[in-house]
Amino acid sequence: MSEVVFDRNAIDATNVVDYIADVFARRGAESYLGEDVTMAQHMLQAAQAAERSQASADLIVAALLHDIGHYSNEIPDSALMQGTNNYHEEAGANFLAEFFPLSVTEPIRHHVAAKRYLCATDPDYFSRLSEASVYTLKVQGGPMNADEIAAFEKLPYLDSCIQMRIWDDEGKDPDRPHPDFSHYRELVQNLVQR
Ligand SMILES: [Fe+2]
Repeated sequence: MSEVVFDRNAIDATNVVDYIADVFARRGAESYLGEDVTMAQHMLQAAQAAERSQASADLIVAALLHDIGHYSNEIPDSALMQGTNNYHEEAGANFLAEFFPLSVTEPIRHHVAAKRYLCATDPDYFSRLSEASVYTLKVQGGPMNADEIAAFEKLPYLDSCIQMRIWDDEGKDPDRPHPDFSHYRELVQNLVQR
């Protein structure tokens, strides 16, 4: 584990991957919203699901980092101040947008909306949601209405957003072994824009 103490408001392209690794190491064992997996298990299993689908590197990294916004006290104030700062998907995407391409950050930004979209458009999807995810759906606004569906379907990364959501839902198995962060570290590093 890193001994470096990071200043969250001094993250740059040279240290962002060290910082993310450090967040996984320090905060990964925290519980994940009423599920039987930890936060690290959840994100690592989502990345594993993407990898098993032979997804592109940007989508594997999106899956790996999609819930980093839950650690809002790890995210620079500048990212939290942009827009709807209490939403973990926005907070995470805003933080990462300084360093990663839209192909990584947009599926993260819309992964909660994708759940609301799938609940409205895929009759089987709702029945597959975990109990905790059914609960948060209500807090997040419930299934989309027709106007919201139409707007969502115009997103440039629509397919990636939907796929990201399915991997998210697959990252909740307490018994499934998965690689650790170091397995994905090079993929993450290669996507950092300087
Ligand atoms: Fe998630």
